[in-house]
Amino acid sequence: MSDTRALIVGLPNPVLLVGAQGRIQGLNGPAKRLIGTDATGWHYITALRQPALLDAVEETLKDGGHRHASYLGNDGARDTTWNVSVRGVALSDGLTVVLSFQDMTAVEEAGEMRRDFVANVSHELRTPLTSLMGFIETLRGPAKNDTAAQDRFLGIMEQEAGRMYSLVEALLQLSRVEGQERIRPTTKVGLQTLVLEVLNTLQSTADAKGLRFDTQMPDDTVEVLGDRDQLWQVISNLVENALKYGATSGDITIRLSSPDYEPTLLQSGVRLCVIDRGEGIPAHHITRLTERFYRVDSHRGREVGGTGLGLAIVKHIINRHRGRLRIASTMGQGAEFTVILPIGAEGNSE
Ligand SMILES: Nc1ncnc2c1ncn2[C@@H]1O[C@H](COP(=O)(O)OP(=O)(O)O)[C@@H](O)[C@H]1O
Ligand SMILES: [Mg+2]
Repeated sequence: MSDTRALIVGLPNPVLLVGAQGRIQGLNGPAKRLIGTDATGWHYITALRQPALLDAVEETLKDGGHRHASYLGNDGARDTTWNVSVRGVALSDGLTVVLSFQDMTAVEEAGEMRRDFVANVSHELRTPLTSLMGFIETLRGPAKNDTAAQDRFLGIMEQEAGRMYSLVEALLQLSRVEGQERIRPTTKVGLQTLVLEVLNTLQSTADAKGLRFDTQMPDDTVEVLGDRDQLWQVISNLVENALKYGATSGDITIRLSSPDYEPTLLQSGVRLCVIDRGEGIPAHHITRLTERFYRVDSHRGREVGGTGLGLAIVKHIINRHRGRLRIASTMGQGAEFTVILPIGAEGNSE
């Protein structure tokens, strides 16, 4: 490689040089990793093997021009997508075609996530919407003069509309929380009163199911820097989940710890645990629970009015508070959701 060509060694992205005879004159480390071998001296057709890129190189060898092609790789863990600039450069000893690779994997993934999200939202809205349309048709036609049926159908329609409403509310909340994630809340929130207030609003649901709240909290006031409404959301989401998916009998324990040094936060923090004695959550689901729309049992989730967005919102709120969420479960014994929150602003400059 001439000195000029040797410069590619200093470039961070994969770069590969093809000489006028079609032989590879040189490639840098990232290019060797992408192609899987040091292909110096090989014919480019043997090394690159993807038709779109081969065409681009062939044309450029003829006219010394500039074009783009895509290239698919694999980094051992996943498929990667590359945009390759193929450009003819006249050097003192002849034409060299410079192939410069740009990693588009993250962009592709973001696009895919967006498409998945839109598909999910549409799917979730379509189910209640289809049902509403069906009932409207029935009310106009067969049930036109049947007041008893009308009443029953309107009840169902109200429920379906309510489901759509909670979904839209949850989506709006999710986008709000995501937008605020970098801004740390600064007001002091007393956790004991908050917990008691939330439990108060859920008491009737618990009573209806024959479940009891077992609250274990320190006597001294425990305060964190937080957003009161959002922490309310966190606690109520976790307790609601315990009521919905957890225990069918027994207690739901809500335990607040006194401030203590938290190794995971590298500073003082408090723990709020919500523990139920339900069937538990299989281990392979646990890491995915905070994904949007993720439900362990989607049919059952929808039946009990779940959107699958609750824990995604919880996770974002906890992130905003610079805290952590831990989920543990033993099958047959129940699930334990622990929120670890820092109590002060120390060590969190951003
Ligand atoms: N305490 C729990 N016990 C068992 N499964 C749970 C518990 N909490 C949450 N889950 C599961 O996690 C899923 C996601 O919860 P969440 O994001 O709050 O959505 P939603 O409550 O709207 O369905 C639920 O659908 C349920 O399958
Ligand atoms: Mg929920």
